[in-house]
Amino acid sequence: MLSPPSRRLAPFKLDFIIVGGGQLFFFFFCPASVYIYLVPLAIAGLSTAIGLALSGHKVRVLERCSRLGQPACGIRVPPNVTKILVGWGLEEEIRKTASLVREGSHLWDFETGKLIGFLQWAEPVIQDSGAKFYMMRYDHLYQILYDAARRAGAEVIFNADVRLASPPVRGAHRPSVQLRDGTVLHADIIIGADGQHSTIRNSVQRKRVEPRATETIVLSGNVSMQRLSEDDRVDVTELSSSWSYWFGPGRACSGGSISSIYLEYAVHVYWDREDPDAPEGWIPNLPTKSLKLSDQALDNRLAGMLEKIDAVCWQRYLDWPNIENWSDESNRIVLVGESSRPLIPCSSQCGSLSVESAAVFSTLFSYVRGFDHIPLLVRAYETIRRDRADFLHRVELTHVTQTMFPPGPEQEARDHEMRKLLHAGQAKWDDDAYLGLWGQVCETWAYNAFDAADDWWVQWGILRERSLGIHDPSVESPFRPLEVGVSARIDVIHEFS
Ligand SMILES: *[C@@H]1O[C@H](CO)[C@@H](O)[C@H](O)[C@H]1NC(C)=O
Ligand SMILES: *[C@@H]1O[C@H](CO)[C@@H](O)[C@H](O)[C@H]1NC(C)=O
Ligand SMILES: *[C@@H]1O[C@H](CO)[C@@H](O)[C@H](O)[C@H]1NC(C)=O
Repeated sequence: MLSPPSRRLAPFKLDFIIVGGGQLFFFFFCPASVYIYLVPLAIAGLSTAIGLALSGHKVRVLERCSRLGQPACGIRVPPNVTKILVGWGLEEEIRKTASLVREGSHLWDFETGKLIGFLQWAEPVIQDSGAKFYMMRYDHLYQILYDAARRAGAEVIFNADVRLASPPVRGAHRPSVQLRDGTVLHADIIIGADGQHSTIRNSVQRKRVEPRATETIVLSGNVSMQRLSEDDRVDVTELSSSWSYWFGPGRACSGGSISSIYLEYAVHVYWDREDPDAPEGWIPNLPTKSLKLSDQALDNRLAGMLEKIDAVCWQRYLDWPNIENWSDESNRIVLVGESSRPLIPCSSQCGSLSVESAAVFSTLFSYVRGFDHIPLLVRAYETIRRDRADFLHRVELTHVTQTMFPPGPEQEARDHEMRKLLHAGQAKWDDDAYLGLWGQVCETWAYNAFDAADDWWVQWGILRERSLGIHDPSVESPFRPLEVGVSARIDVIHEFS
């Protein structure tokens, strides 16, 4: 454990604008009267707002949409994310609405429904990772983050459609954003947390970044457990205790219970097929009837489940290249979350990527001592996060590819490994296959974003700060006295490590 980040005040207070929220093309199809579905990337902006506002910075979040999101899909909150939310004091609220992933993952054959494997959440993994694994409804997580950001003092402004961000220019030392209605707002730092199709990215990179299109689409939907239980092909008890995967040639599915109070089940299906005849986005307007499920070779459980969902939403599966620059030359316009490393849609890593980068960024800025300090901290953020974010993307791509192997040697090797796990069980924790697999999971779940930022500060930040001569009391904040001195903070870190 580390000292609660929520109790550290930055010695110097900055003014941040965070550009968050939805992707424009999702809104073209919405008549004004229809609720707008927020996309998961809004989480990066609100999380960054919480971290920064808790350190005493001034924070305004500009959201493009006109209101809080409606229920849409599920999001995984793995231990490395839970840890951050706990650090921000949100444990109680999460526990109230989220569904705890208890047992492990069933791995089924997409077509026959045969059990290929079962990944038990080995006790040591959960203990090592230091926090719980939850599934949540996306809109519940959004609401919790929104309330927390407001409580911490951040202002969230809806209907603010940002057209572009401009670096500081001579005469005006602050960067600015321009809204579509012409309003110009200035701040010390502009953060682009506006997702895959980021507008702010165009102010940071000269070249436009184009994703590679694939043949795959991703369908998402959810259904109440009550409705599911009406279908005798579906065993609700079996499904609700675990987070399940279905592996098949050119298609794969993952699903789990996402809410403790509404008892809902959410599924994402990766499917090699033509674009459906319905608008792409987060509004479930593709009737499942149009998928002609009865013509498909399909596990009975999946058939039962999908038939009970009236409509799903869908997205193209895009594979994005690395984003070369995460900040502009002035280091005053910075990207966080999926604007810096777009993932594949409905990635199981999207919560991790967004909340972790928010935690690293805001923890670093709890140390800021003056304007001169900004470039150092922005570059530190990029150093700490870049490899990790690329790694997350690669892991996810590999994972999805593996789940969709066509019949052949690769698929057989995969199933063989999975079967070994099925027979190993928890008692065989020493088994090589088990260790190999969980070794990686342990490492990723054990990741603590707060520590990653604090470690950098202890190892490099203080030295660099001295060499830059930044430790000048005249740059200290006029607003509030330094609450915890740097040396006191290091003691705290040592005490807990
Ligand atoms: C990234 O930044 C460097 C230095 O500012 C610049 O030379 C380069 O063109 C930028 N890359 C892109 C893709 O815009
Ligand atoms: C999920 O369920 C809610 C409530 O039943 C519904 O309003 C929403 O449209 C569903 N979302 C999707 C993506 O199917
Ligand atoms: C967070 O946990 C997830 C588990 O779903 C893992 O896959 C991911 O790599 C972890 N993220 C980081 C940055 O460690």
